[in-house]
Amino acid sequence: MTRYAVIGDPVAHSKSPRIHTLFAEQFTADVQYAAIQVEADGLKSFVDEFFSAGGGGLNVTVPHKESAFALCASTSIQAQLAKAVNTLMLDSNGELFGDNTDGRGIVTDITENHQVAIAGKRVLLVGAGGAARGALPALIEQSPEQIVLVNRTLAKAQTIQNEFADIARVDATSFEALDRKPFDIIINATSLSLHGELPALSPALIAESTCCYDMMYGDSDTVFVSWAKQHGAGVCLDGLGMLVEQAAESFLLWQGKRPETQPVIAALRR
Ligand code: ATR
Repeated sequence: MTRYAVIGDPVAHSKSPRIHTLFAEQFTADVQYAAIQVEADGLKSFVDEFFSAGGGGLNVTVPHKESAFALCASTSIQAQLAKAVNTLMLDSNGELFGDNTDGRGIVTDITENHQVAIAGKRVLLVGAGGAARGALPALIEQSPEQIVLVNRTLAKAQTIQNEFADIARVDATSFEALDRKPFDIIINATSLSLHGELPALSPALIAESTCCYDMMYGDSDTVFVSWAKQHGAGVCLDGLGMLVEQAAESFLLWQGKRPETQPVIAALRR
């Protein structure tokens, strides 16, 4: 049996053990997947010991994604751009490798599960924290017409704009300066839904054809999803699909097989 786990602080709420157990059942893989609370000052020793003891892989969640990135001997391009990892494993030399599958998760959910193209579209990314950083590389890969990055703290959006300047143009802006023209896709990458709050966006940014995506999810519509529905957005999605798709990408890295995600998303919705 191979051991896997998600590490975070707090982590008890994590749906990853359920998701990975459902994935493993599809292949009758002998896998044990746990949620383990790890504090910041114990991160390095935990990771070292987990892999020394034969652990197969780790998922990393808040608040360790950036510090886990710093522990890696090598990382994927996506992780380098995001400066954060959500997936750890040992490479063929036995050294720690980190990837960030969050971006592939959201893009797969939008483009494949919901058949909304990102290529050639105008995308508004709201927020400039770790969630926005993680999504950006994969969004850019889809070749949207434009990516506007809006954040309460403009300087953080500008830093990201500069860091990504070599690979794509990202237009950083404040909420006040945001043009009141509809976007094709609006992604909420702020933590506001956790507190039942909305980013300060004008409903004029929404057209009938707009897809609004909240990276957060809940048992009922998040406030952002409710806001999007209320103002007539054509496609209104929460982040449950992204959660399952990023997990499937981690499973693929570890096991070399990509599980079916639809039945798992459906099971979690129930
Ligand atoms: P995560 O890793 O989940 O992205 P984070 O790095 O703390 O978390 O980023 C949270 C994001 O939500 C940031 O974009 C933050 O804006 P600031 O950079 O200005 O802090 C945004 N956010 C959090 N609370 C907010 C609020 N009350 N109004 C507007 N934006 C908020």
